Amino acid sequence: MAKVTLKDGVNWVGVVDWNLRDFHGYSIPRGTSYNAYLVIDDKTALIDTVKAPFCNELIEHINEITTIEKIDYIIVNHVEMDHSSALPTIVKLAKNSKILASARGKEELIKHYGAEFERVEVVKSGDKIELGKKTLTFLEAPMLHWPDSMFTYVIEDKILLPNDAFGQHLASSARFDDEIDQHVLMEEAVAYYANILTPFSPLIVKKIQEVVTMKLPIDIIAPSHGIIWRNDPMKIVNAYMDWCTGKVVKNKVVVVFDTMWGSTDKMARAIGDGIASFGIEVKLLKLRATDNANVVTEIADAKAVVVGSPTLNNGIFPSLSSFLTYVGGLKPKGKTWYFFGSYGWGGGGVRNMIKAVKEVGLEVVEPGMELKWVPTAEELKKCFEFGQQIGQKVKA
Ligand code: FEO
Repeated sequence: MAKVTLKDGVNWVGVVDWNLRDFHGYSIPRGTSYNAYLVIDDKTALIDTVKAPFCNELIEHINEITTIEKIDYIIVNHVEMDHSSALPTIVKLAKNSKILASARGKEELIKHYGAEFERVEVVKSGDKIELGKKTLTFLEAPMLHWPDSMFTYVIEDKILLPNDAFGQHLASSARFDDEIDQHVLMEEAVAYYANILTPFSPLIVKKIQEVVTMKLPIDIIAPSHGIIWRNDPMKIVNAYMDWCTGKVVKNKVVVVFDTMWGSTDKMARAIGDGIASFGIEVKLLKLRATDNANVVTEIADAKAVVVGSPTLNNGIFPSLSSFLTYVGGLKPKGKTWYFFGSYGWGGGGVRNMIKAVKEVGLEVVEPGMELKWVPTAEELKKCFEFGQQIGQKVKA
């Protein structure tokens, strides 16, 4: 592999997972990468590892630059297994290395990989290790993405290694932001934020403000997934601030639904037309044709979400149950939720969806709209008017 250098002595030694399409349950159409970094000075530090099946590739990349036995420090910024499952093999080869992690990181390493990791040395925010001319320092970042998470910063090179934060699930032969189509890059960056980091938005804002207060100069942000931000690192920081604080929300409505025999589909189209009649952008997404993760990405900049389910056995249609469970964990704030659906002899779909969404604290407009059997022309007109009411509120 051609050597990938961020700055003299700081190298990418990660791997690209070109064909992964399911990342612990959500779809990643463009694959991903597990970025590990090697800092070479009088002493050598490896920052993070990779997913276990790619361990040999990581070892090859390290050995192209140095020999793995010479690693003095292994920094574990985050214990989730996409970054640490190669670690047990790496520590056996890098026999003399010290392993550094946050206090929670040490606990989690022992629980994941056993008592061998009792030897992990705990670092906290502000601690430093001197490698020679280069110095590494640490910034704890709990819940970005797990309680153990921390950032590593190479002081002299002004490189921030924030692990999951600012990443993207994007497999590419490009490594840097100036080597890739910006639309693709930002599309994957927002999908990553929406599906992984949305629940932690207030913590992200606080962490960014903390870094700003510390006046850390940043030339490069090198996350542990996807592309490295060297041309314009503030682009992703500013984008995160906008996403986390809801600044990107626009006059857009997502209608997400499923259908058994077409009645809820007809309702969705009429409601969508009613919303669009106010000049508002509308997306109609049918579950079973669109993955939950893609719906959540579309919702990220929408003001309202309109959810439609047929009633099945007095309850919610299964694809909608899955969606509401998924979105209920992420809890995207600043959106208004509406509900509709069709039923046969007894309703329940709409009622149960409203209950589920209210329970997780999202803003629901009641009542929803429920119709029996196949909608008549008159009922479709009512659906259109329901859409108009939503459109009017969104526009206001
Ligand atoms: Fe990329 Fe939270 O692991």
